[in-house]
Amino acid sequence: MTFKKWMMGSCMSALMLAGMTPAAWADKLLMPAKVLPAYQNECASCHMAYPPSMLSKSSWQRIMGSLDKHYGTDASVDKATQAQIGAWLQAQGGAYKRVESSSPADRLTTTQWFENKHRKVDKAVWARKSVNGKAQCQACHQGADIGDFEDDRVRIPL
Ligand code: HEC
Ligand code: HEC
Repeated sequence: MTFKKWMMGSCMSALMLAGMTPAAWADKLLMPAKVLPAYQNECASCHMAYPPSMLSKSSWQRIMGSLDKHYGTDASVDKATQAQIGAWLQAQGGAYKRVESSSPADRLTTTQWFENKHRKVDKAVWARKSVNGKAQCQACHQGADIGDFEDDRVRIPL
C-alpha cells in the first residue's frame, strides 16, 4: 500500500466535510479541518504543529504526560491547557496499524514510514543549519503547515 493510500482512508471523512475534490486532496496529508487553537498556540513555536494523524494515540498520551521533559526541553503548559490539548490529540491521533506498531521514542521521525520516505536523504543533509534536524519538516516541505508533503514540491535548502 502506498503512503497516499493509507492516508486517504483516515483523511476521507475530514476531507469530505471540507468539500474538497479527490484531485485536490489525494496529495495532501491534511491537518484536521479545525485545529484546536491551543494546539496551534502551544505546540508550534519550536517546531511546526505536526498533523496528529502522524503519531499513535498512545504516543500522544505519553508526550502530553511529560511536557516538562520534552525531548530534552521544557514545554510545560498549565493543567487546563494540557488536558484540552491531550483530549484533542486522543480524538485526532492516528489509529492505523502502521502508526500504532511503529512510533519508537514517541517520534514520527523514527516511524518506518518516515524512514522509508526519506531513505534517499543523505545524513549530512539533516545536519545542515538550514534544515536543523528531521523534526523541522517545513525546512524542506514548504507547505507542511497545511499538510502538504507532496514529494514534487520538496525543496531541500542548501
Ligand atoms: C520549548 C520548545 C517546544 C515546545 C513549546 C514544544 N516542543 Fe515539541 N519538541 C521540541 C524539541 C526541541 C523537540 C526535538 C526536536 C529534534 O529532535 O530535532 C520536539 C519534538 C517533538 C515531537 C517529536 C518530533 C519527531 O522527531 O518526530 C513531537 C511529536 C512534539 N515535539 C510534540 C509537541 C507538542 C504536542 C507540543 C505542545 C504541547 C510541543 N511539542 C511543544 C521542543 C518543543
Ligand atoms: C531534509 C529535507 C526534509 C525534511 C526536513 C523532511 N522531509 Fe519529508 N521528504 C523529503 C524528501 C526529499 C522527500 C521525497 C522523497 C522521494 O521522493 O524519494 C520527502 C517525502 C516525504 C513524504 C512523502 C511524500 C509523498 O508524496 O509520498 C512525507 C509524508 C514526508 N516527507 C513527511 C515529512 C515530515 C512529517 C517531516 C517532518 C517531521 C519531514 N518530511 C521532514 C525531505 C525532507
